[in-house]
Amino acid sequence: MKVGVLGAGTMGSGIVQLAAQNGHNVTLVDLNEQILHSSEDKLVKILSRLVEKGRITDEQKSAAIGRIAYGCDIQDLADCDIVIEAIIENLNIKCDVFAKLEQLCKKGVILASNTSSLSIASIGAALEEPSKIIGIHFFNPAPLMPLVEIIPAVQTSDSTLKKAKDLIDSWGKVTVLCKDTPGFIVNRVARPFYGEALRIYEEGIADFATIDWAMTELGGFRMGPFTLMDYIGNDVNYAVTESVFTAFYYDSRYRPSFTQKRHAEAGYLGRKSGRGYFDYTEGAVRIEPNKERRLGEYILDRILVMLINEAVDAVFLNIASKEDVDLAMTNGVNYPKGLLNWADEIGLDNVLTKLEDMFNEYGEDRYRPSPLLRRMVRDNQTFFA
Ligand code: NAI
Repeated sequence: MKVGVLGAGTMGSGIVQLAAQNGHNVTLVDLNEQILHSSEDKLVKILSRLVEKGRITDEQKSAAIGRIAYGCDIQDLADCDIVIEAIIENLNIKCDVFAKLEQLCKKGVILASNTSSLSIASIGAALEEPSKIIGIHFFNPAPLMPLVEIIPAVQTSDSTLKKAKDLIDSWGKVTVLCKDTPGFIVNRVARPFYGEALRIYEEGIADFATIDWAMTELGGFRMGPFTLMDYIGNDVNYAVTESVFTAFYYDSRYRPSFTQKRHAEAGYLGRKSGRGYFDYTEGAVRIEPNKERRLGEYILDRILVMLINEAVDAVFLNIASKEDVDLAMTNGVNYPKGLLNWADEIGLDNVLTKLEDMFNEYGEDRYRPSPLLRRMVRDNQTFFA
């Protein structure tokens, strides 16, 4: 299969590397010639480093480099069997580009978007034959993160879905199938990791360092929520939260936080600006967490049951299968355990009780337990056990 990638930024460059290393001839197109050159330089450097580390041979590196062609004209993608688009996140621009691609590519081409937040159906609507549209959502960095969400739109044909999934499976990725809904699986189910952590802080229950300590030390997460938001950038993370909130018709479960908004407005973006929730300037004093165990357990329990509730609700609404929901969170954002598997371990009745307690205490719709959780507790069921 000849692969085309449109957009030579962070994501496009990673996808090209994957395609080339998996034996495909691949053409990378970007409007901006300078970005294209810098992408080529970076790819050569990354592959050379892999040779130094003994992960690939010199021949494999040369072969991969030899399979990649670069171009500034969308016309260069004409002979591709699949084009994966990774350009700017703007619906009008994407629709424009997809309509052009459909005209110049061969009839059986698959047209895929790596969008994080736009609906695949709305991009497909730009096509005369929308059955060839599909979402193929990689995670950053694409060559390293195992997860890829495959998102058929209402217009997507079975054959487009099968070919796209088979291709990405053949690259050794963990593919999960997901409905065309806001945030897909990962960016939907992960919302409480940030949102509930921010809420706990806003209530004055604990500071950033203590919440991070509870999630990493007691919960086994690789990074605490505030450290992670500082990595992602508070501007970027806030924008994702706001877009999911709006897309869900202002469901209070996804409401963004003023704390994060103010940090973004102040320019406290995180690592990239030297300061976010924490100070990254040289010589900055590290804030010590309050390691009181009961407080830590309260924090972990509260964020965890909110995450589990989100995962259960995704299954309830047929966004993805229970297996794929767990695979998505362990392979896309490195959670220490699948959330549904974790729920079985804790006991679904315990999860429900904690959510009901919060729902009763706060009287907020945000804490409403998923109907599936209630049903499973009533019927004494588990997800996997
Ligand atoms: P980026 O800003 O690093 O790269 C975008 C590239 O597209 C730029 O090089 C730009 O010159 C080029 N471009 C813009 N308009 C173009 C056009 N009409 N024709 C050809 N090239 C064009 O962006 P990034 O971060 O790589 O994101 C790309 C897409 O992937 C977006 O849809 C984003 O939502 C999605 N995505 C991003 C992730 C991330 O962590 N950065 C993760 C998963 C998906």
